[in-house]
Amino acid sequence: MRSWCVLFVAACSSVAPTPVQPVAVTVADAPIDAPIDAPPDASVAELAILEYGAQLFQTQGCIACHSLDGTFRIGPSLLGDWGTTIALDDGTQVIVDEAYVRESIRDPQAKKRAGFAPVMPVFTGRLTPEDVDALVIYIKSLR
Ligand code: HEC
Repeated sequence: MRSWCVLFVAACSSVAPTPVQPVAVTVADAPIDAPIDAPPDASVAELAILEYGAQLFQTQGCIACHSLDGTFRIGPSLLGDWGTTIALDDGTQVIVDEAYVRESIRDPQAKKRAGFAPVMPVFTGRLTPEDVDALVIYIKSLR
């Protein structure tokens, strides 16, 4: 009996482990956990981009300075920021639209919002054009 067991174990352990096949992940397969205020007609791909933007907002440290609940930290909250008119420290005003948000991420000091220190780091080189697109789409969704 004993030798049978040993043989059995030996037989089992000599079975080569099944190689793990790499799984091709497409955008549609990406986990979807988009904010609940995503547009109801958003496609699966759009939701995946939103989710990616939300992740970048955390992993790139944006959240350290920009809250998502309307309270101001080191920077303005980005909740409800899109579409508003804000004052710049040169006395002019600007609408928070796609062009402004894009420029603010690429070159934060190009237009400085009044009442805040110019401390936002430059993300050029750390974010791909796709990353910036995803962040812009995510920030737009924060309404
Ligand atoms: C160290 C703090 C800090 C970090 C980190 C930071 N920001 Fe900022 N951000 C600011 C401050 C302060 C301002 C306002 C002053 C200015 O215009 O430069 C600002 C302005 C902005 C604006 C313009 C909003 C407005 O109402 O004027 C956007 C958009 C923005 N940040 C996005 C981001 C994104 C996206 C990230 C991460 C990739 C990020 N920020 C990381 C501090 C930060």
